[in-house]
Amino acid sequence: MLLVTGGAGFIGSNFVLSSLAGSDEPIVTLDKLTYAGNLHNLDALRGDGRHIFLRGDICERALVKQALERHRPRAIIHFAAESHVDRSILGPAEFIDTNIVGTWNLLEEARAYWGALPAAERDAFRFLHVSTDEVYGTLGPADPAFTESTPYAPNSPYAASKAASDHLVRAYHHTYGFPALTGNCSNNYGPYQFPEKLIPLIIRNALAGEPLPVYGDGLQVRDWLYVLDHCEALRRILAQGRAGQTYNIGGGAERKNIDVVRAVCAILDRERPRSTGSYAGQISFVKDRPGHDRRYAIDGSKLRAELGWAPAQTFESGLASTVRWYLDHPEWVEEVASGAYRSWVETNYARRDAA
Ligand code: NAD
Ligand code: TYD
Repeated sequence: MLLVTGGAGFIGSNFVLSSLAGSDEPIVTLDKLTYAGNLHNLDALRGDGRHIFLRGDICERALVKQALERHRPRAIIHFAAESHVDRSILGPAEFIDTNIVGTWNLLEEARAYWGALPAAERDAFRFLHVSTDEVYGTLGPADPAFTESTPYAPNSPYAASKAASDHLVRAYHHTYGFPALTGNCSNNYGPYQFPEKLIPLIIRNALAGEPLPVYGDGLQVRDWLYVLDHCEALRRILAQGRAGQTYNIGGGAERKNIDVVRAVCAILDRERPRSTGSYAGQISFVKDRPGHDRRYAIDGSKLRAELGWAPAQTFESGLASTVRWYLDHPEWVEEVASGAYRSWVETNYARRDAA
């Protein structure tokens, strides 16, 4: 039995679905269902006895304790977090609560549970913390990519909250011998990503005939990884990673934001052509994000050398299948484009006057 926190969100739901497609080991999903959590992501598992959904907040200690005692997982995969940089700039409080205090609660309860396990189960137990490359800060154009020993230099409240959680995970291993591992991953994209993040936002706005907002000059660089490749890397780390280690996970696909937006438009031009011309005509440069990190890049050589992992998708193949998924699931996009989503979009973009 695996306990997955945040399993109704973007990466968590992809992890739950792909894990149960390849194994019969049961999964308990613990998720608060914030604006970013969507139970419909797990619709394919309705009535499937291998999956149990628990609605709950990782900040509630008693609930976490009860879930661990009742379901007795052999591992915890911890995705639950507030995950959007722009939201963390407008209001960091929930990032502190969930990402830092929530992770600490989970570590405390997991440590107590692990400490009381019989020796063999105790030895086999793992806590896999899902984190980000944003903890390392920003790179210049010629800087070498982030390695596991790059000093932490988080720049946004989101990145700082994830860095704090990484430090707690590290300390629990160092101090208590708690068998934790951390994956620091680059930008993910793929099915079920909430359309506040760049790629799904661009697809949605393009189809809706709305502006495609590119922050600043659009020359910021991210290293993109297809979500199912991330999930496979996490399974590899869980199975074969060394407790106490951190692993950088990246796509080896550095792209400028403006090129990502143009690539999405080019796929839409092919798949859903419009007589009025290319979707790229909707691109609109808007005011930059405060403190916007210029470049992220992952050196994934440790994961490749130790665990033999490499991404299966290129950026081009992953992006094409992602755009097709969104075209094939308009009802999913409609549903998440609820009142809560619309009011967020208004708050965020109202202050970004066209540059
Ligand atoms: P997401 O925002 O799509 O999903 C987060 C999930 O966590 C949601 O289902 C939400 O309901 C749940 N959640 C939030 N607060 C909770 C709480 N207090 N208790 C229980 N559940 C709660 O996020 P995502 O993009 O799927 O990211 C998952 C993890 O991966 C995060 O830890 C994030 O920092 C990390 N990560 C994301 C990316 C990326 O590109 N999206 C890259 C690297 C790392
Ligand atoms: P995002 O998907 O929010 O991920 P992160 O900030 O964690 O990297 O943004 C990816 C990049 O795209 C980032 O450099 C900010 C930029 N961006 C835009 O230019 N326009 C947008 O509307 C959004 C949401 C992001």
